[in-house]
Amino acid sequence: MAELAREFEALEREAVDRFGAVRDVAELEQMRVRYLGRRGRIPGLLGQMRDVSPQDRPAVGRAANHAKRTVQEAFEAARRRLSRKDSEAAATGLDVTLPGRRRRLGHAHPITQIMDESVAIFRRLGFVVADGPDIETEYYNFDALNTPSDHPSRDIQDTFYLPDGRLLRTQTSPVQVRVMERQAPPVRIVCPGRCFRRDTPDATHSMNFHQIEGLYVNRRVSLADLKADLTLFAKELLGPDVRVRFRPHFFPFTEPSIEYDFSCIMCGGTGCRVCKNSGWLEISGAGMVDPAVFEAVGYDPEQWTGYAFGMGLERIAMIRFAVDDIRLLYENDVRFLHQF
Ligand code: PHE
Repeated sequence: MAELAREFEALEREAVDRFGAVRDVAELEQMRVRYLGRRGRIPGLLGQMRDVSPQDRPAVGRAANHAKRTVQEAFEAARRRLSRKDSEAAATGLDVTLPGRRRRLGHAHPITQIMDESVAIFRRLGFVVADGPDIETEYYNFDALNTPSDHPSRDIQDTFYLPDGRLLRTQTSPVQVRVMERQAPPVRIVCPGRCFRRDTPDATHSMNFHQIEGLYVNRRVSLADLKADLTLFAKELLGPDVRVRFRPHFFPFTEPSIEYDFSCIMCGGTGCRVCKNSGWLEISGAGMVDPAVFEAVGYDPEQWTGYAFGMGLERIAMIRFAVDDIRLLYENDVRFLHQF
């Protein structure tokens, strides 16, 4: 009955070929049933072992065992091949069973946050938002603001000029003029925006910075209104304990002019590193609108009065978030920005 041994060998070759050629899971299952299933061809042949004579038995037994093992292995190999092919996982190295990687949500830049909050506070006080171009004419940036070309103030606000004589605005104040030209009083606007000056960058200076301008024009506006509104703004933005200080100053387009400081929110006014031990933080300039500015826009200075202020948003952001170098705000390092 050595014939049975040859049958095992033939069946083995056939089955290995077929398993090597299966293309999908359904076909694999079909082949498994055909060769290895309970009524399959391998168990069928094994059943015939009963009739093999004792002297043939060792040879047939070896062939049978070999066939059984090899066909089983061919089946496993085919199954592995298909699972590799079917699942993208193995092909791409992607393990879909791993927990997902969370995407970090972005948020507004610290300067934008301060800008949005400031605008919201002024809107509650009845101000509306106005906008103007970053690239200005000399007329709006300087002349209409009572700053003729020989005025020494222009040197302090040296900026970047375009070949056609226009310039990157040094302040948000030109928006005041643009709005007043278009609109009759009363006016109550804030203009947040980007400004530029030819400063050498250091911890507190940047060639590019932001201001928010305020302008209120009506009959009988006084410095007391300015003081009240700026104090209210400071308390809304930085908390009820903050105090505001006004100092005499000069601006060409306001008369009288002041600079104002907020008490240091870090130390409460006793002196610390943030306020350089003075207890006060310089915010920016303000004053009563100069009659020359009203004349430039065609308002009658005998009838109308107004106050204006401008403040540096970086300044406020640095105080609020305790940042000691303005350059950090512009490096776009998410490890830094993520903290706020
Ligand atoms: N524009 C002035 C500056 O940039 C600030 C200011 C605004 C002063 C409005 C008075 C009134 O320095």
